[in-house]
Amino acid sequence: MFCVPINDCQSLLKKTTFFLILLCFILFGVVSQVLFHYYSVKNKITFSENIAPIIYKNCTGCHRPGADAPFDLITFNDVKKRAKMVKKVTETKFMPPWPADPTYSHFADEKFLSDEELKTISVWVDAGCPMGDSSKLPKPPEYIRGSQLGKPDMVIKMAQPHYIKGNNTDKFYLMKLPYEMANDTFVKAIEFVPGTPKGVHHVNGQLITYDAGKKKTVFGGNFIVDTDTFTHKQGFEKMDIPNDDGTYPTLTPSVTNYLPGVIATLYPEGIGGYKMKKQGTILFSEIHYGPSPIDKIDTSYCNVFFDKAPPKRPTSEIQLGTLGVSKIIPPLFIPPNMVKTFHTSIVVPVDISVLTVNPHMHLLGKKFIACAIKPSGDTIPLIRINNWDFRWQYFYTYKKMIKIPAGSLIYVEGTYDNTSNNPLNPYHPPRLVCEKEGSMRVTDEMFQFIITYLPYQEGDEYISLENAKVNH
Ligand code: HEC
Repeated sequence: MFCVPINDCQSLLKKTTFFLILLCFILFGVVSQVLFHYYSVKNKITFSENIAPIIYKNCTGCHRPGADAPFDLITFNDVKKRAKMVKKVTETKFMPPWPADPTYSHFADEKFLSDEELKTISVWVDAGCPMGDSSKLPKPPEYIRGSQLGKPDMVIKMAQPHYIKGNNTDKFYLMKLPYEMANDTFVKAIEFVPGTPKGVHHVNGQLITYDAGKKKTVFGGNFIVDTDTFTHKQGFEKMDIPNDDGTYPTLTPSVTNYLPGVIATLYPEGIGGYKMKKQGTILFSEIHYGPSPIDKIDTSYCNVFFDKAPPKRPTSEIQLGTLGVSKIIPPLFIPPNMVKTFHTSIVVPVDISVLTVNPHMHLLGKKFIACAIKPSGDTIPLIRINNWDFRWQYFYTYKKMIKIPAGSLIYVEGTYDNTSNNPLNPYHPPRLVCEKEGSMRVTDEMFQFIITYLPYQEGDEYISLENAKVNH
């Protein structure tokens, strides 16, 4: 009577074991949750005290209304809703986007999370995202609409809104924003303000100025040229950039550079700035719109901040590699199915103080390193990028100027991956990719290193380049 058929007995045993295992899992889950919770409470890891400051400092600048990222990261709910993803993208170093290796050199406004901060986020997410005491929540950062630097003295708008077709492809253009003023003036900074923030991906802006009597009108020619179709020189002619007699006007390089989340470069009082003659144009030697499925109309503009006096210490720029002063060795030919490294270098003839550097490669770029080797043999690290990311090409400004003594060698090395392992390789199967003089096409390559510097003065290495303000 008490006998149970063997088969039933076995199945009962199986079921019991199964339930026991299941119970163990549940218990383990609950216990670990409780432990995590205990750990996070014990370490007081809460949104209001620990997480919000990390998010405000490293994420909100891009993840807010009107900025580039696809969703906001400001409130508790914003972050909680995407907590798992936040943990993942920070752990994998996908976010915040900051390609420069922070173990090699440091920069003003650098965005990266310390191991401690990564752990804090991870523990908080695993503990179920406790809010904590909301009265301790810091105030979210404020972003001034239209300018991060202050009230501009002049605004230069696009001559006409630019229509971008939404067909999911990247678009690159040359664009000019001409201006005319009553008098020549001095300028401290120019700030690019994107018209379609979730559209403009990056801008490199130069200033073109005309001597009196050299140009009848700056408003002639095309305002925009597709860089896929024309070289630089053809583009300039189409845009009527040359003087009326065919000679070239003055070009001041890198007056404004934009990437999502980047505040326009402003050096401390007395450093930088330039003369702006009354007739001229801001020239975007590149304006890049990211891929979008919907049509957009861009009305980007530039804020101009005047200076009362001529610049005391105007900065200079030197460009190594493509279109620059130094040869690329070997010449930049990247054969298919190869990972290949190139270098370029210059010797610095006088002591200089370096303010900003900009490494530049296109889609095949993988690694980039630049350093200065002093005559004594010591090395000054400038920048290292271990995983090149075409989308995030910053102009990196140091926290303090870097002194490079006369006789030092500035050495730059770039590695390119032209195999099919490179997901950004534009060609399948891979083909020979090289540098084409004057071509800005992303599918051609470039190897460039731009340095903004001053002749060295005693004490430069102690001047902070962080938090400069526009004085009115
Ligand atoms: C410089 C601007 C910028 C900063 C700073 C930034 N993000 Fe982003 N984030 C973006 C953009 C733009 C995207 C859209 C994806 C892309 O373009 O690569 C994105 C996408 C994401 C995504 C979605 C990823 C996916 O796979 O869809 C998450 C999650 C995210 N960011 C979290 C963060 C967190 C957390 C921080 C701060 C620790 C942060 N971001 C800082 C610009 C930024």
